[in-house]
Amino acid sequence: MKWIIELYRSPMAKKAVMALTGVILFGFVLSHMTGNLKVFQGPEKINAYAEGLRELGKPILGHGELLWILRFGLLAAVGLHMLSAWQLTQLNRKARPVSYAKRKPQTATYASRTMRYGGVIILFFVIYHLLHLTVGNVHVDFKHGDVYHNLVTAFQNPLIAGFYILAVTALGFHLYHGLWSMFQSLGWSGPRLNAFRRQFAIAFAVIVTLGFVSVPLAILSGLIS
Ligand code: HEM
Repeated sequence: MKWIIELYRSPMAKKAVMALTGVILFGFVLSHMTGNLKVFQGPEKINAYAEGLRELGKPILGHGELLWILRFGLLAAVGLHMLSAWQLTQLNRKARPVSYAKRKPQTATYASRTMRYGGVIILFFVIYHLLHLTVGNVHVDFKHGDVYHNLVTAFQNPLIAGFYILAVTALGFHLYHGLWSMFQSLGWSGPRLNAFRRQFAIAFAVIVTLGFVSVPLAILSGLIS
């Protein structure tokens, strides 16, 4: 245990933890977004998909057990992602005790600030989102096990649909900056590589954002009812 803590002291290790947990969280949002698209196939498909998630690992594990293990893994990834982000920010501040007061801020400063505020917005969104669509106590007409109904009744309200659209757009920016700087940490930089990694980061962020946004938009426009 002690050697892990010792190893984690280096900024490189913190960056590695940040990147690894970022990849795990990225994998989660990508699969969550794809799963949500089942709403376009109708109530049976998306409700069966949600039930299928609870049956993962059966018969070796009991109902919902693997899902709980995955949830704890996800929570640990979120915790470590935030911890390493916060510690790297502190290290950067210590390394640069004189502020940028009279200097022209660099693009990196804007990017890291966007990351910090974006991260906090996403965190608050996820807490609300869990109470809204998983627990259901801030949903006006929540029915356990009926994901289709819960989505349709939620997003028929333009305020809620708009809020989700804004939140997943913030997530899109976070993914874009996150992917871009992860490649930087991996040492993938240079004029040609920079252009490629920018396009790659934009493409992934746009795909994830549009995939998420399509659900509230389809419900709000009446395409799904
Ligand atoms: C328009 C966007 C989104 C929609 C329509 C949506 C929909 C849903 C629904 C219906 C559930 C409940 C599923 C069930 O009960 O089986 C859920 C759970 C969840 N969502 Fe989302 N989601 C969206 C965006 C996000 C984003 C951006 C994140 C994270 C950054 C996220 C994280 C989660 C988490 C952690 C759960 C709980 C999973 C579990 O414990 O089973 N969602 N979402």
